Amino acid sequence: MFRIQHCDQIAPTNYLMEIEAPAIARKAQAGQFVVIIPDERGERIPLTLADWDGEQGTITIVFQAVGTSTIKLSLLRAGDNLPHVVGPLGHPSGADNYGTVIPVGGGVGIAAIAPIARALKQAGNRVITIMGTRTGELLFWEDRLAAVSDQLIVTTDDGSYGRHGVVTQPLVELLQDGAGVKRIITVGPTAMMKFVAQATRPFGVKTIVSLNPIMIDGTGMCGGCRVSVDGETRFTCTDGPEFDGHLVDWDLLGVRQKAYATQEKHSQECLQQRLHKVLEEK
Ligand code: FAD
Ligand code: FES
Ligand code: MG
Repeated sequence: MFRIQHCDQIAPTNYLMEIEAPAIARKAQAGQFVVIIPDERGERIPLTLADWDGEQGTITIVFQAVGTSTIKLSLLRAGDNLPHVVGPLGHPSGADNYGTVIPVGGGVGIAAIAPIARALKQAGNRVITIMGTRTGELLFWEDRLAAVSDQLIVTTDDGSYGRHGVVTQPLVELLQDGAGVKRIITVGPTAMMKFVAQATRPFGVKTIVSLNPIMIDGTGMCGGCRVSVDGETRFTCTDGPEFDGHLVDWDLLGVRQKAYATQEKHSQECLQQRLHKVLEEK
């Protein structure tokens, strides 16, 4: 069992959970993820390691409550236990000294980009971070990212905070300015990562994306997470999750992510009915 130290709402749909998982905390590296089962009857879902503390033996995840499993997780509180947490999984993010790098985090992906930006800074890079959300109230960890960045640019789609617009606008400006950018790494919604890769392609700057296909075992056995990169089938859990964004078949990824949409909708409706019943009986 993995005891939850706390679960806090940090934005209207986003939650931060700190979990006691000493063996994972000792080995965790930036860019890796865990697979969690929220309750004994639940499914397996992958979530990125947003932070960890090897001495305290804890890991931190930040998740958006979008469906059955993440809603179940959001209802857990300090002292509750998770039956299964497996990890750390996936290859760590490359954190060499490249020179000037731009980590780009979007939405809940801001949490995943934070340890990557930190590792890049520790490796001696000049780090220009761009973080963006739809609206200001969805922003979090601006202070954390500022602490590990030489420059931080914040965007919101609706202009309610920071710069008005999407993350690709300041990104393209930096590339046009000839800031000597050697590498871009992005974590966020699939559409955002696809647009980041499209925007950087004409500049020929290596652009790493952290892919988020449906995963089941997370250890290379089921094939559920397969994606196509440079015309070859790759398993995101064991070959990734990071790949060269200029080589990813984004259309295939988009289609596969929606493969179980009908079942996911049905499952969420059933959960909501059960929650409604519990509230009525109280
Ligand atoms: P559902 O209603 O079941 O699904 C909603 C959508 O989420 C689906 O349409 C599908 O596209 C996706 N999804 C569903 N099941 C899975 C699954 N088993 N694996 C992957 N995607 C799935 N989300 C975060 O909020 N924070 C993170 O740090 C984070 N890190 C991730 C790291 C990796 C390597 C991957 C692959 C995904 C990550 N995700 C993260 C996405 C997260 O796993 C899904 O949002 C979650 O599984 C949705 O489950 P659900 O039951 O709540 O929603
Ligand atoms: Fe099963 Fe990757 S999740 S092979
Ligand atoms: Mg689900």
